Amino acid sequence: MKCRVCRGPAVIDIRRHNANFCREHFLRLCRDQVEKAIGRFGMLQPGERVLVAVSGGKDSLALWDILVDLGYAADGFYLGLGIGDYSDESAGYARRYAQSRNLTLHTVDLPATHGFDIPGGARAAKRAPCSACGLSKRHLFDDAARRGGYDALATGHNLDDEAAVLMGNTLRWQTEYLGRQLPVLEARDGFPRKVKPLVRLSERETAAYCILRGIDYVVEECPMAVGNKHLAYKAALNDIEVQSPGAKHDFYFGFLERASERFRAQVERDRGDLAPCERCGSPTDAGVCAFCRLTARATAPKAERKGAAHLEAREKPSEAVARAALRPQRTRAGMTPVRISDRRLR
Ligand code: FES
Ligand code: ZN
Ligand code: ZN
Repeated sequence: MKCRVCRGPAVIDIRRHNANFCREHFLRLCRDQVEKAIGRFGMLQPGERVLVAVSGGKDSLALWDILVDLGYAADGFYLGLGIGDYSDESAGYARRYAQSRNLTLHTVDLPATHGFDIPGGARAAKRAPCSACGLSKRHLFDDAARRGGYDALATGHNLDDEAAVLMGNTLRWQTEYLGRQLPVLEARDGFPRKVKPLVRLSERETAAYCILRGIDYVVEECPMAVGNKHLAYKAALNDIEVQSPGAKHDFYFGFLERASERFRAQVERDRGDLAPCERCGSPTDAGVCAFCRLTARATAPKAERKGAAHLEAREKPSEAVARAALRPQRTRAGMTPVRISDRRLR
């Protein structure tokens, strides 16, 4: 197998590009794909300050590495979710990466700062763990970007993530979600701009990028994600991709180019007026924001939870949509590399 660019020995095949690449040209391809996504969707301007939501996994660490390489002033933000050993381990990877590159990593520990962890919060609020997790991440990432005066918040959602979310939204024709499924959400009413610069890279590619750059990342899946439908959608899409290389890319980018706009009007129409949350000051259309309601339920003595459940029922649909945008969507990649073993490409 030869590199498409230099004809030297290839280390990876990318079937949707119908090509093989050596280390140097694969790393360049990854950077080029990120640069292309940033330019095509107007995600970032040169020199902007970016806060990268870092989980310790391959996607967010690859994203951080590439953004710094492209010259952005990118700091990291790690949120400790209190998911046992998994959180401790993930934090270690994020810290070690930041130290090794002399980069700034901000950290917030949910149990220490808000008095609850994700398993406990999910139980108290009778939510799925990923739902409580997504809500907490969205709120605390936004908050960190706002307080730090960053121009944008970048997340490591890759092509597999976006295609799987699109598949889930399409299977149920969740038109409001479809209207918000964009690689960029512009800043508005106190929310920072949110960008997904990895949308042109698959998770197999971000894993290979990390391996080839010597970036150590947490390989284990979040234990709370077991049974998550998105893992099933990813597996189904991987099967389709094997038969039809490029299908994921065409599905997602075809949606953005040809269909996304049709769902935008509903999002604009349903957009409520935002005002500062009565408790934390974050923008919300519900008086008390969803995160403060979750915190109230998760930290209330058992007998009081019933009352807090009443508050929870007031959550607006727009908040549910925003919550869905940060679901954890990591899974194993399912395609055949040339020299990097599949076992490492998780
Ligand atoms: Fe959020 Fe697993 S539930 S990372
Ligand atoms: Zn080459
Ligand atoms: Zn609040």
